[in-house]
Amino acid sequence: ASPEAGTAPTTVTVTGAAGQIGYSLLPRIASGAMLGADRPVRLRLLEIPAAVGAAAGVAMELDDCAFPLLAGIDVTDDPATAFDGADVALLVGSRPRGKGMERADLLQANGAIFTAQGRALAENAAADVKVLVVGNPANTNALIALHNAPGIPASRFTAMTRLDHNRAVAQLARRTGVPVTGIRGITVWGNHSATQYPDLTAATVDGRPATEVVGDPAWIEEFFIPTVQQRGAAIIEARGASSAASAASAAVDHVRDWVLGTPEGTWTSMAVVSDGSYGVPEGLVSSFPVTCSGGEWRIVQGLELDAGSRARLDVTVGELAAERDAVRGMGLLG
Ligand code: NAD
Ligand code: LMR
Repeated sequence: ASPEAGTAPTTVTVTGAAGQIGYSLLPRIASGAMLGADRPVRLRLLEIPAAVGAAAGVAMELDDCAFPLLAGIDVTDDPATAFDGADVALLVGSRPRGKGMERADLLQANGAIFTAQGRALAENAAADVKVLVVGNPANTNALIALHNAPGIPASRFTAMTRLDHNRAVAQLARRTGVPVTGIRGITVWGNHSATQYPDLTAATVDGRPATEVVGDPAWIEEFFIPTVQQRGAAIIEARGASSAASAASAAVDHVRDWVLGTPEGTWTSMAVVSDGSYGVPEGLVSSFPVTCSGGEWRIVQGLELDAGSRARLDVTVGELAAERDAVRGMGLLG
């Protein structure tokens, strides 16, 4: 398809644009992979002053791709400019953990970024902006941003667990010898951290219960769950840097499904503001099974949680509550 003549471009803001994920993500967005082959995009790249030059270099490369859908690129270190009229905001930039930094230092440093970006979104973005937080600790950064963005509904803030979801799909497909398209009904619950719970209870493989096709409960408990939980660390160990191409791909999947809808007959995993579903305290940004249509997400209801699943969900939600309490104690929730 070619871009519809006269269609106003969608404004997509990407923070941390000069980073590793940005480098994989931006060409995918500009090529139409995220919003569709008929949807022109205008990119706004936000970086810190020291990296604006590098982001401008990425913008030069995007120009050099001559993407038919790319209507323009702005590079800036000013959040108000970056979020001006933003329809979609991908918050990728965050403060990495440095030498000698404690977890509290990391929460504090990111708190400064996500309070400011929440405010800038509220003041400048489109009324129906869709926000995806990728930068870690993603769930809690999203919680901070939404608490500092008066006027934007909390439902417009999400955090990324799609990479964990895709990792779970890939592991199950490999084990059972089916293409990834044969896998449905996987859920990643909770935090984007090693406590997350990748859940196969309701999953199917070519329409048959995954637990039956796998056959061996020990594979799930002793291999599948820890492999998915620890995959981020395994990539860092192997690559010497955290996942970037797969994280960018997951961000494209997350936004595409949110905007264009999840496929019929299945769901995906997104971290969204809890309404109390499945006993997850209201207000926490937790990963749930989610379907999307008409640009809105909805938590899938009625799934069974056996005692083992309940215990795993309680652990990861407990971690989210502890992170919330820590940032609340720092005054970051307004
Ligand atoms: P990176 O260090 O290569 O790039 C981050 C970029 O963000 C840098 O260019 C930095 O200058 C920029 N930045 C920092 N503060 C900023 C600010 N206030 N405004 C704008 N830009 C800012 O890191 P990366 O590999 O691209 O990863 C980015 C983040 O994504 C990290 O926090 C990483 O842990 C996280 N991540 C999340 C997932 C997930 O599944 N949710 C997966 C992989 C990585
Ligand atoms: C990932 O899941 O690959 C990253 O979030 C890992 C990390 O800790 O940066």
